[in-house]
Amino acid sequence: EPGKRQRLLEANRIAGAFFAEQLLTPEAATARAFLAERSFDRNDALHFGIGYAPKGWDAALKHLRGKGFTEAELTASGLVSQGNRGIYDRFRGRLIWPIRDVTGETIGFGARKLYEEDQGPKYLNTPETALYKKSQVLYGIDLAKRDIAKNKQIVVVEGYTDVMAAHLSGVTTAVATCGTAFGPDHVRFARRLVGDTSAGGGVQLAGGGSSGGEIIFTFDGDAAGQKAAMRAFGEDQKFYAQTFVAVEPSGMDPCDLRQARGPQAVQALVEGRQPLFEFVIKTTLATYDLDTAEGRVAALRAAAPVVAGIRDTALRPEYARMLAGWLGMDGESVLRAVQTAG
Ligand code: GTP
Ligand code: MN
Ligand code: MN
Ligand code: MN
Ligand code: MN
Repeated sequence: EPGKRQRLLEANRIAGAFFAEQLLTPEAATARAFLAERSFDRNDALHFGIGYAPKGWDAALKHLRGKGFTEAELTASGLVSQGNRGIYDRFRGRLIWPIRDVTGETIGFGARKLYEEDQGPKYLNTPETALYKKSQVLYGIDLAKRDIAKNKQIVVVEGYTDVMAAHLSGVTTAVATCGTAFGPDHVRFARRLVGDTSAGGGVQLAGGGSSGGEIIFTFDGDAAGQKAAMRAFGEDQKFYAQTFVAVEPSGMDPCDLRQARGPQAVQALVEGRQPLFEFVIKTTLATYDLDTAEGRVAALRAAAPVVAGIRDTALRPEYARMLAGWLGMDGESVLRAVQTAG
């Protein structure tokens, strides 16, 4: 019902303002120190609506009750959890990021642990609610949507702090999923935002047909990040011709990078993006010794199925040629290997 939805939006709006206020209290010194350590100043906190959820079990609960919200409404909002003795604050002693939809309405929160001794995961988000569907949520979309449409580019980073660092570094097309993988709903949404006309219909991208922009993933340079890219490749290929990967070899994420090397380094990371196919193939090759004939043949055997898996019939021979170049082998035999593998 629209009335219920409005009430949930209102609860989120009031909770967001409450958390933001709490960031100024003595108890929130740890939260402010966390922000300062990441080179986020007071203005940045205001710009992103950062807040602090007090340690007590009922701070937000009391505040919202005082504003007339019922137990049922608070439960539906995901702001409280149900215990043996009633409801209590879901977020306690945590730094808070309001998560907004494309229109700028707060639909939920991301919350980071600040005290080592605390139980619970490092990051905790709003559970699934009528407003908050994690498979669709993109943190930062309210701030990024205009430049995404304008630049026909969307940059997907891993976390809340990375979105902040990216935007503050001039990469204003950055968004992040919230504690979940970039899934099919995100793909559809992202493709629509960058102006891919085939987004809704699941139409195969094949060289032409689509005017779509770029989707750029900045995975952690670590093994987990590379695995994520390989997994993405394995799952769905519809949009991959326009998908790029930006990996920082040092393993630093955009937040680390901005601090260590400044905003230009964050921009350079994005500018240095590689096509996803190239990244996956080069990652495959990296595990072989290409200085030996045996190593090159083994590498070809491993990489040929990847190239054979490229469904775009115009792109596949292009990649076969590039693979030949990277291997230092002749194009004909690589093309044959790819045809055999496919
Ligand atoms: P910071 O110390 O906050 O900079 O963390 P990090 O850079 O090590 O963050 P990491 O790369 O681990 O996490 C990036 C994003 O993944 C976060 O913004 C969360 O959205 C998500 N994430 C990380 N840890 C957890 C967790 O324990 N639970 C959930 N649900 N999400 C997590
Ligand atoms: Mn600003
Ligand atoms: Mn990581
Ligand atoms: Mn990280
Ligand atoms: Mn980080």
